[in-house]
Amino acid sequence: MQEPESSARFEKRRERVKLTYKMQSSARVDSATTKAVFYQQICEQLDGLLKGESSFIANAANTSALLFQFLPDVTWVGFYIASENELVLGPFQGKPACTRIAFGTGVCGKAAAEASTVVVGDVDKFPGHIMCDASSRSEIVVPLLNWGKLIGVLDIDSSSLNRFDDEDREGLESVVAVFLAGQSINDLPDLGEYSAFE
Ligand code: SME
Repeated sequence: MQEPESSARFEKRRERVKLTYKMQSSARVDSATTKAVFYQQICEQLDGLLKGESSFIANAANTSALLFQFLPDVTWVGFYIASENELVLGPFQGKPACTRIAFGTGVCGKAAAEASTVVVGDVDKFPGHIMCDASSRSEIVVPLLNWGKLIGVLDIDSSSLNRFDDEDREGLESVVAVFLAGQSINDLPDLGEYSAFE
C-alpha cells in the first residue's frame, strides 16, 4: 500500500516539476513557433488546466483533449492504463480504439515493458504494430512512471510518416511530467497486484 500524500507534499512536488520546463510569459499556444517553444506553451497551459483537480480520469481526459486540439497532424491522442499484465484503454480523442494491449505487444506494450518512450516513423515496419486505425502511419508512446512504477502510457498517432522526432519526444515527455505532477498520488489508478518495476 502506498502512503497517503499530504496536500503540502503534493504542492511541493508540483512546484518542483514546474522547474523542469521553462515558463513562458505567454499563456496561449501559438502554432507559428518552434517545437521547443510550442511544447513549453503546451506545458504551461496544461499546468493551468490541471490546477485544482487531482482526479486521474478527469485530468487524463483534459490532457488528451488539449493535445488533440493543438498538436498538428495527429489522428489519435490517448491514454492506456496499466492493469495487472495489460494496458486498458483510458481517456482519449479520436476514433474508437482497441481496448486491451498485453505488455510487450505493439508499440504501447513495448513502451510499457521497457518503461521508455518508443518513436515509430513507419508503423508498417514495426513488427507487431497493432492497427486501430488504417490511416495511422507513425506513432509515439510515452510511459507514465510514478517513482519507477508503470501507471500507463500516452499514445499519439499520425497519418503522416515520420511525424514525431526527438523534439516531439522531449516535448511530450515534459507534457507527461506535468500531467503526473498534477495528480495526487492518492488518486492514481489502482494497479492491483501488478508491480513490474519494484
Ligand atoms: N498502435 C498501437 C495500438 C493503440 S492505437 O494506436 C490507438 C500499438 O501498436 O500499440
